[in-house]
Amino acid sequence: MLEAGTVFQDRYKILGALGQGAFGATFLAEDLQSNGKVVIKVPHVEKLGDPAVLERFRREVAIGRLLNHSDVPMALAISEGDPPYLVFRYAKGESLAKVLREHGRFPVDQTVKLVANLLDTLHYCHHKGVYHRDLKPENLLLAPDGRLKIVDFGIALMEGVPRVTWRGFSSVMGTPEYMAPEQIRGERGGAASDIYAVGCLIYHMLCGSPPFTGDDPLAVMNLHMTETPKPLPAIFPDLHTGTWAAIRRATRRRKHERYGSAEEMANDLRHPEKADLKWADEPDPPLVITTDPAAGRSNRRVIGIILLSVVILLGLLFVLLQRH
Ligand SMILES: Nc1ncnc2c1ncn2[C@@H]1O[C@H](COP(=O)(O)OP(=O)(O)OP(=O)(O)O)[C@@H](O)[C@H]1O
Ligand SMILES: [Mg+2]
Repeated sequence: MLEAGTVFQDRYKILGALGQGAFGATFLAEDLQSNGKVVIKVPHVEKLGDPAVLERFRREVAIGRLLNHSDVPMALAISEGDPPYLVFRYAKGESLAKVLREHGRFPVDQTVKLVANLLDTLHYCHHKGVYHRDLKPENLLLAPDGRLKIVDFGIALMEGVPRVTWRGFSSVMGTPEYMAPEQIRGERGGAASDIYAVGCLIYHMLCGSPPFTGDDPLAVMNLHMTETPKPLPAIFPDLHTGTWAAIRRATRRRKHERYGSAEEMANDLRHPEKADLKWADEPDPPLVITTDPAAGRSNRRVIGIILLSVVILLGLLFVLLQRH
């Protein structure tokens, strides 16, 4: 843990800690060369030498090169020395998680505007073949320009790049409150999973807590698969039914029933009168958690073979009895 005041690598004066993730710690620092503020990410001591750390760091830099958007403060530089570290452009702002903890909820108008703009940024990322896959208030900053900035592309998926090493993923993913059912089932996640997370996020911003909560992560995962979120229009009469329909469509359990793109959802949030209201109360049948679909298939095959054998044996028995 770097103390405030320490000069890291003869260049970055540490101003304070910003966060502790599963892989490393993040610090606000002053770049003594440019005199500007930057963000530094350094792996935990016990992670030094773990190839997964460098893999994540290289991914964040590669994504930084690919995305050029004012709401995505990306990695500026990587050092693969000892210790390896990443330097990010600093984005002024408050973690959305902290704002929500301190202020509870956001007014409907402000929420809709913030989230529609966030969806524009997300649409840009998706268009570039980058899927964040870990959208949650901890990874969003509420900036003074009134927009949400997206950080932490450590487990993002980049099209055309081999899949990220999932070793230690369970400890990385933290809360399952924004996780889409397909991610809970072990799929890698993509645009539709980001849209699901945004659906949970808008719900959280409107009412002060995400649709499904609890102390036990497994129980929360199960709620995503089986429960329907408490309807918000009953609590907030100023919420347009079209906005509620948009939230429900984004959080459909089956990904093919969600919005086809972040842009479509942004349009519905901006023009709730044009949203398809059928999604407001369309039943969403439960799903079961089968983390390994192949295992499910092979179990069904074994049961099928046993049933077939029993039928054949009964048939043979019947024929034999007929002969006697
Ligand atoms: N570029 C940035 N500008 C300003 N603040 C940032 C920036 N990047 C990250 N932060 C703040 O630092 C916190 C931690 O950063 P980040 O989410 O990237 O790492 P982490 O989740 O702690 O670690 P890990 O990558 O191991 O999951 C964020 O929640 C955010 O508040
Ligand atoms: Mg984070």
